[in-house]
Amino acid sequence: MKTKNFLSIFIVLALIQTGCQPQLKQCKSNLDPAVELKIDSLLARMTLEEKVGQMSQRSKHGEDGSEDIKDEVRKGNIGSFLNISELRQRNELQRIAVEESRLGIPLIFGFDVIHGYRTIFPVPLAEAASWDIDLIEKTAAIAAKEARAVGIDWTFAPMIDIARDPRWGRVVEGSGEDTYLGSLIARAKVRGYQGDDLSDPQTIAACLKHFAVYGASQAGREYHTTEVPKRVIRNVYLPPFKAGVEAGAATLMSGFNEINGIPASGNKYLLTDILRGEWGFDGFIISDWRSVKQLIYHGFAKDESHAAILGSTAGVDMEMVSRTYIENLPGLVREGKISEDVLDTAVRRILGVKFRLGLFDNPYVDPKLADTVILAPEHRLVARQMVRESIVLLKNENNVLPLHKNVKSIALIGPLADNRIDLIGTWATDAKKKDVVTVLQGLKNAVGDTCKINYALGCETTGDSIEGFAEAIEAANSSDVIVMAVGESEIHNGEACSRTNLDLPGPQKELLKEVNKTGKPIVMVLFAGRPLTIDWSLENIPAILLAWHPGVEGGYGIADVLFGDYNPAGKITVTFPRNVGQIPIYYNMKNTGRPEEEDDRFTSKYIDAPSTPLLPFGYGLSYTTFEYSNLKIENSKVSIPGTVKVSADITNTGSVAGHEVVQLYTQDIVGSVTRPVKELKDFKRIYLKPGERKTVTFDLSTCDLRFYDINMEYNVERGDFYVWIGPNSAEGLKGSFELL
Ligand code: BGC
Repeated sequence: MKTKNFLSIFIVLALIQTGCQPQLKQCKSNLDPAVELKIDSLLARMTLEEKVGQMSQRSKHGEDGSEDIKDEVRKGNIGSFLNISELRQRNELQRIAVEESRLGIPLIFGFDVIHGYRTIFPVPLAEAASWDIDLIEKTAAIAAKEARAVGIDWTFAPMIDIARDPRWGRVVEGSGEDTYLGSLIARAKVRGYQGDDLSDPQTIAACLKHFAVYGASQAGREYHTTEVPKRVIRNVYLPPFKAGVEAGAATLMSGFNEINGIPASGNKYLLTDILRGEWGFDGFIISDWRSVKQLIYHGFAKDESHAAILGSTAGVDMEMVSRTYIENLPGLVREGKISEDVLDTAVRRILGVKFRLGLFDNPYVDPKLADTVILAPEHRLVARQMVRESIVLLKNENNVLPLHKNVKSIALIGPLADNRIDLIGTWATDAKKKDVVTVLQGLKNAVGDTCKINYALGCETTGDSIEGFAEAIEAANSSDVIVMAVGESEIHNGEACSRTNLDLPGPQKELLKEVNKTGKPIVMVLFAGRPLTIDWSLENIPAILLAWHPGVEGGYGIADVLFGDYNPAGKITVTFPRNVGQIPIYYNMKNTGRPEEEDDRFTSKYIDAPSTPLLPFGYGLSYTTFEYSNLKIENSKVSIPGTVKVSADITNTGSVAGHEVVQLYTQDIVGSVTRPVKELKDFKRIYLKPGERKTVTFDLSTCDLRFYDINMEYNVERGDFYVWIGPNSAEGLKGSFELL
């Protein structure tokens, strides 16, 4: 009680001082009281084994041994499955749970629906490059609709780990390096998956993952240790999770990594003190795949029984795949080594989500539903739109792009040109190759019979065979223009795909060099799930489109952009390094005591490469040009709380219409602790016809300038700030204001 009073006083004080929403939130369950009563009544009747059963999730693959799964369900030893998307099997297991287990508690079925279920959208890093938050919400909503139709109740998404190291393969799964954009996207995806009502058969439960700091794996090596100061954790890594919690995410996943010596899946500070205590999260937490058992390998737990105690008391409510809970927790409670309250609390949260999903009232899914929902034409249209919006134009010298549709011949060369699987990308378990439109198909569809397309594979993305080079050069020589479809394959990024070399894999760079010798104009369509070190290409190839792994509508969306039916407006949300030695490199770094100066050797830089990136965060071109002018700061002295009004005029100075993502950055010049050189604070995606000018105005609240200060309090500090409105993090109109 005392703590609650203290919290309330603290909240009121925070409000008076800053005028901002409080950071502390009191726990409030969003279950209605009648449901709470039902849960109480179930809990009162459950055996210890049944309680722990609810806390146990199995995979359909039966990685854990050969026991009869159905019998386990019947006994109430399993509360959830993952990886089952075969509806008959799902409904049958559900029937056993509901009709044959003692208490009839339904199962919850989880699945990694990461960028679509069957209508596969561009990978999440690509979607982020659209900066189109509404469209991102829409793709999540479609994914949810399709997934629910095959009996998936719950997705292990969104993945919202801030990632500043492109060597890490999972960069592809998130929204990049920025906390502000990442938080907006986290919120949008939760809204998209969950809608307003989780019991609606078109929605699924979201799962914020991987809590926390997984993206900071040392040296970009998968599953590696993270050592991150608490202030950086709070300022950089946690806000997207907080945004997801505020958006009402039903579940959250604890990570594989350790953070400052304590593994995420046994980390009470993160899972209970922050998540529950500070943010009021009332959903349930699932471990990552066997990450409770892995507490042993971390050197944190001495055996499985110890791991079960550490995991459950830290706050992991449900254990994924490993069996430390089911095999140890009932006995540990009987021996008095752990309180039964720990189990009751976890089960209460899990049942709460099952009730919210409506699983008690509607445990089954109608097998006919999928036919009308899966790959519906309107879903494919949204996918095509997302492909177009996620594509980033990295270079366009001599206006090689857009291509003319009346061109007589195009050489289409490269391992990604007539390829389906790699267009899908990582984490698309139930995707079907046959659903994918290849680049070759997309091009043919765009130009019809009037243009000859000379296709050649050239080489693979792996190995070192250059056997196909001759055919590729021949195709190039007999064509007017060349489209090179090169980059990473699906196997090059995603989980367990860390790389120490970020060049084009296989002999693709050599292929590019050879084809370039023909002297024909080349457009490089780059497929990737992370920044690649493409310095040679950027220097030598006249036009480059970054198409990521675009999903089922890839070929059409790419053709739309290649031929100018859509003017690209995507902007990268991760910094592209010049070489691996520059990593970590991200836009919102700190200054140093010796900021780089060209003619002073003893300043912060390298002696063998520039310290600037190859391509900065927020960068992306268009087929038109935009001019930024007339920066205005309406009130350059503002007291706290208050709002700074900043505006600029953006003019389309080219000859085609297009979208531009106008970005607002600030720098808090002097702080009680040092502050980043730039921070994204807002953006607007605008559309301008040729010659059109718009004034873009941002209302920057002093609340948006808060950070964890010298006392680890979340505050805005008085003093001088720089502000920029620009097309990316390295350019823009600069002004200043002062907070009084
Ligand atoms: C991944 C998670 C995923 C889980 C279930 C783990 O290996 O880290 O992101 O949700 O598997 O497939």
